[in-house]
Amino acid sequence: MKNFLTIRDCTTQELLELLELSAGLKKLYKNDKRDLCLTGKTLALLFEKASLRTRVSFQVAMHDLGGITVYLKPDDIGIIGQREPAKDMARVFSRYVHGIVARTYAHETLNELAHWASVPVINALSDLSHPCQAMADMQTAIECFGKINGLKLAYIGDGNNVARSLAFACAKLGMKCVVASPRGYELDAETIAAANAIHPGSAEQIRDPKQAVKGADIIYTDTWVSMGQEAEKEKRIKDFQGYQVNGELLALAPKTAKVMHCLPAYRGYEITDEVCESKQSVIFDEAENRLHFQRALLKKLIGGK
Ligand code: CP
Ligand code: NVA
Repeated sequence: MKNFLTIRDCTTQELLELLELSAGLKKLYKNDKRDLCLTGKTLALLFEKASLRTRVSFQVAMHDLGGITVYLKPDDIGIIGQREPAKDMARVFSRYVHGIVARTYAHETLNELAHWASVPVINALSDLSHPCQAMADMQTAIECFGKINGLKLAYIGDGNNVARSLAFACAKLGMKCVVASPRGYELDAETIAAANAIHPGSAEQIRDPKQAVKGADIIYTDTWVSMGQEAEKEKRIKDFQGYQVNGELLALAPKTAKVMHCLPAYRGYEITDEVCESKQSVIFDEAENRLHFQRALLKKLIGGK
């Protein structure tokens, strides 16, 4: 495993190992111990888009493991490839640092960086996928239910980067993923077919959110307007009416169901404040697990665990 670009690229074994490593490191750090396996190492963070969780969790994780980070914010680099080709940036960074974390608009930019870099490249979110998020969510699911195999995740809303990574994570780890979206915002058919090829029956695209949450262990949603889609905001808000995760929808799910959101959450749109703050919400556990998972990923890819 050289890079971490999509969950689809990883084997089930690799994902399970990462989850185990993440749980182990979480325990270690909760006990105020440290693993300085990345002492003397440097990680570059190249961000075309804004970030709170991803940026900070990678910076803290690298520091916790003994290394340092260099952060290039959207203003510094603009769109990767505009000032100079991604293939040149990849080779320059490979001479300076031991790993590259990149948040890009086009997923192809990540593929280009990974092709030319001699150091690991990690996807910090692209328009296609958000694998680090989905893995922190899987860790949260294991913590909530003591298992992952056989759970049902109902994803309500936009069939976007987060939904796609969840569908592949579910397929690889034995979970069922039902996506409910309005017409025109479904998860693409190729993803559904590919997830079902990995684990038959694991992915389903439907229209009705009420049907999706029936028997669900996890109810998941994300913004209706992802970064880069701001111009479509008004249309999207209209098109997503009826897809809010609110108390009424939650009441149709089992009482034991947990609510997840990758954050940032737009309260009053895809989710209500009441649901975000409810006892069933584990959104801050997911956010915390971003840190634990990033430590595991960095240890594996840069530390050669
Ligand atoms: N969930 C997530 O990736 O958050 P940021 O955009 O703040 O990094
Ligand atoms: N789908 C959202 C996720 C943000 C973490 C976006 O791409 O903006």
